[in-house]
Amino acid sequence: MRDSAIAFAPGRVNLIGEHTDYNEGLALPFAISDGVTVRATRTKSGRIEAVATDLGRRDSFALGQIARADGWRAFVRGAAAEVDRHGAQLTGGRLEISGTVPRGSGLSSSAALEVALTLALFALSDAPVPGRLELAQLCSRIENEWVGARTGLLDQLASLYGERDTAVEIDFRSLTLNRVALDLGEFSLVTLDSGERHAIAGSGYNQRREECEGACRELGLASLRDATLEMVQRLPEPLAARVRHVVSENDRVRAAVHALAERDFPALGRLLDASHASLRDCYDVSTPAVEATVERLHRAGALGARIVGGGFGGNVLGLLPPGVSAPRGAVTVTPGPGAALID
Ligand code: GLA
Repeated sequence: MRDSAIAFAPGRVNLIGEHTDYNEGLALPFAISDGVTVRATRTKSGRIEAVATDLGRRDSFALGQIARADGWRAFVRGAAAEVDRHGAQLTGGRLEISGTVPRGSGLSSSAALEVALTLALFALSDAPVPGRLELAQLCSRIENEWVGARTGLLDQLASLYGERDTAVEIDFRSLTLNRVALDLGEFSLVTLDSGERHAIAGSGYNQRREECEGACRELGLASLRDATLEMVQRLPEPLAARVRHVVSENDRVRAAVHALAERDFPALGRLLDASHASLRDCYDVSTPAVEATVERLHRAGALGARIVGGGFGGNVLGLLPPGVSAPRGAVTVTPGPGAALID
């Protein structure tokens, strides 16, 4: 048990493998250098006093019967409740939260917030910090049960398993993680903000998830991991299109791992483009602002560009060849270390 702790958790970029995590599929994310920092001090007040520095907002609530709240407060209350439920027996704490990942940007500010909060709260308690997989699952419960977004494990695992120069191939069926060197040589990855913000809980995200569950029921499958393109013919629209996306996206993750191993960056670019086309045409999660952003990256000379994260706004990822200047506002992204206590 500590009197104080500072936890940092990064956001993530998903190189490829979108909307596959809750379908027991594959994805290839990496942690970025932007993230959320939580400075925590232990108290004996039986309460959590939290300040969101960037928002200039506060929250204060009693431990024990934690009441629900909206927005960023839902994350703090959910984190305290889930950490306590894990046997932490918190005595009280002051939390100062600050971050550099814009909310609703598709770079997973939510997971960064959950992971930094839970790491800091565990540090103030007697309970040992759970292993990374278990902690990711605990954080995902915060989002599912307290925030109301039925997200999968992609973001939390990416934040917790981040490593410099490395992406991580995740198999969401076996929950195995495979490190993939992300050495792009003179090529670079950039994110470009569409300027449009999304809130997963209020977007079509939960509806997409229900559609995938509906497709599984129609096909008699436990998950879409077992679906094939032949099966799609038995489904009505839009379920057929949703399944087409999930099946082809898993194949693209495998192909991207291969392209990286072969250092075939033009092939990687084509996979990013194909992923985006599938997310737009089959999964229906793009918007006019996102399309304009993809277009800007292509006009600048990107080899491929795709929407990142849950969709309905946020950032677009582009792969730039050597010598091409990124469009104004683009940010170069490289894989950085995963979440940890930094003090
Ligand atoms: C959001 C969710 C993730 C994942 C992606 C889409 O980021 O939090 O669980 O489903 O969307 O790939």
